Amino acid sequence: MTRLAAYRMLVLGLAILAGSAALARQSESEPSFDRDIQPIFDLRCATCHNNDDPVGGLTLEMHFAYDQIVGVPSLQSGFKRVEPGNSQQSYLLHKIVGTHISAGGTGFAMPAFTGNLIRPEEIRLIEAWIDTGAKK
Ligand code: HEC
Repeated sequence: MTRLAAYRMLVLGLAILAGSAALARQSESEPSFDRDIQPIFDLRCATCHNNDDPVGGLTLEMHFAYDQIVGVPSLQSGFKRVEPGNSQQSYLLHKIVGTHISAGGTGFAMPAFTGNLIRPEEIRLIEAWIDTGAKK
């Protein structure tokens, strides 16, 4: 094989690899707010965070939650409630993980007082949703 032919094969190989990586990324579906996140809020949070009595100045009811959290400053810390693309700078994630005090916040870990503990896979979904841009 000539050097040029070997080089061409290498380039072709790399192109195929890059193409399949892009396909894999596409097929891995990103969490969607309406399909994946709102149901967690309905189940775990909206009994307290509702329009009748938005504790902590926050309602997580359907049709309100997204606009109440994405890009909105937290009332308890210097963070936004949800900083799109950055779960570590998102106070809501700190509240459910329980690292809210070290993030400069206050109060209880969420969901508060319930024993209705949020599951690790639900936390991971919220984290992935934030890190992939907190899209609607
Ligand atoms: C039993 C009632 C109750 C439940 C259930 C509950 N919360 Fe809360 N939440 C509160 C109260 C009360 C506060 C304010 C006092 C505190 O932080 O401890 C609060 C505060 C917050 C704050 C702070 C808001 C800010 O602007 O700083 C966030 C974020 C939050 N809750 C998210 C959640 C999420 C997400 C869930 C569901 C996984 C949830 N909460 C479930 C009662 C609740």
